[in-house]
Amino acid sequence: MAGITEELTCIGSDLPSILPITRNILRLNDGEIISFWAGGYELTSVEDGEIIKRNPEIVEDTMEAAQKGGYSHFMLKEIHEQSKVAGELLNMLDSSPDLEPFISKIKEARDIYLIACGTSYHAGLLGSVYFNKFAGRAAIPVLAPQFTAQYGSSVGPEDVGIFISQSGETKDVLNAIATAKKQGMGILGLVNVVGSTLTLVSEYHLPLVCGYEISVPATKTYTNQVLALLYTALRCGEKETSELNKIPDLMDLTLKAAEGQLGPIVGKLSGWDDLYILGYGLTYPVALEGALKFKEITYAHCEGMLSTEFKHGPLSAVYDGYPVIFTVGPEDIPLIISGINEVTCRGGHVIAIGFEDSRLEANAQQTITIPEIDISDELKPAVLALLSVIPLQLLSYNCSLDREFDPDFPRNLSKTLTVD
Ligand code: AGP
Repeated sequence: MAGITEELTCIGSDLPSILPITRNILRLNDGEIISFWAGGYELTSVEDGEIIKRNPEIVEDTMEAAQKGGYSHFMLKEIHEQSKVAGELLNMLDSSPDLEPFISKIKEARDIYLIACGTSYHAGLLGSVYFNKFAGRAAIPVLAPQFTAQYGSSVGPEDVGIFISQSGETKDVLNAIATAKKQGMGILGLVNVVGSTLTLVSEYHLPLVCGYEISVPATKTYTNQVLALLYTALRCGEKETSELNKIPDLMDLTLKAAEGQLGPIVGKLSGWDDLYILGYGLTYPVALEGALKFKEITYAHCEGMLSTEFKHGPLSAVYDGYPVIFTVGPEDIPLIISGINEVTCRGGHVIAIGFEDSRLEANAQQTITIPEIDISDELKPAVLALLSVIPLQLLSYNCSLDREFDPDFPRNLSKTLTVD
C-alpha cells in the first residue's frame, strides 16, 4: 500500500508502517504498478499498461493502538494484551455473521487442511490436535509453501482449507490459496488484518480482533488463533463453549505467575546459544512456537521438538549444564519424566513448564509453574496448552533484553512477508 501526502509518497507492506506518516492511504491490488514521486503517483495495469484512476482513502484508525502505552516494547505490551483480545474474540465469535457458514463448511468437508507459516502454522498444528480431540475430525496441518507439493493434485471441491495468517498478506500463504482455488477447494480465513488479501479471497473469514500487532514476534495473534481454533473445534464437535470465557482471566494469572518465576531461568540461559524446547501431544506445537520465539529474538539456536524424538538423535548434544526445556501436559507426566531423566543423567539442565506437580519438581532442576485452573477435565489439557506459551513468550522477551537485543525488531526480519 502507499501513503500519499502533498510532500511525499511512501510504500509499505502494512498499514502500521505508514500510519505514523499519513492516513491518506492507497491500497494496491494484484496486477497493478505504482510509479511514484514526492507528492504524486500513477497507477497502471500490468496487463495492458492502461492508467487506473483511483483516489486514496482516509483511514480512520487511531495511532494509539500503534504506541507502546507505557511499556518498554511493543512485544511486552502485546503479551499483556492477550487476555483482553481473547475476551474480545470470544464476544465477536458469538455474534459473527460468518461463524455459522464457516463451521458448516468445515463440518461438510471431506478433508480439512490448516495452512499457514511460522507462528500461524504452530497455531494450526495445535488446532489439528483440537479438531481430533473435540470434533473427531482429522484436520491436516501443512506449511503453506509445501501445500502445492504435498496436496496440490489431491484436493478438490469437497475439501476445505483454513488459511491462518496474522497479516493476511503472506505470499507463501497466497501461493497456497492460488493452488486451492485452481482445484476448486473451499477457502476459509483466520486473519487479523481486516481488508487484507486473505479476507478478500476467503469465502468466509473470522477476524482475530487483536488490533495492531507491531512487534515482529507474534504473540497475541497466536493465542487468538489458537483460541479461535479451539472454539471452532468444539463447535464442530457440537460441544459447549461457555467455559472458554474463563480463559482471559487464566491468561492474566499465568502471566503474573510467570513474571515472578522467570528471573533465575533467564539467569541460567544467559550465554547459552544452543538449547531445545520439547513438548508432547498438545504441548508439541507449544514447544515449536516457544523455540521459534526464542530464536527469533535472541539469535540463539533453539530447536522445538517432539519430546520422544529427542532420544532418536539430538540427545547426543547434551553435556554438563546443557539446557532443555520441557512443556508438560497433565496427562503426559510419566512419559515426560522418562524424557527428563534421559537428559539429567547426561548432566543436562532441565526446566519444566506445567501445573505444579511434585514429580516435575523432584526431577527437573528448575520449574515454571502454571497456576491450577478451574475448568472441566475434558478441557483442562487443551487450555493448558494455550496458556503454556505465555511463559515462553515472556522468557524469550527477557532473554532478548538480557542479550541487549531489540525484541520488537529483530535483525533480518519483517512483520509482513510479501515475497516468495
Ligand atoms: C512469528 O513470530 C513470526 N513473525 C512469523 O513466523 C510469522 O508468524 C509468519 O511470517 C507468518 O505470518 P502471518 O501470520 O502474517 O502469515
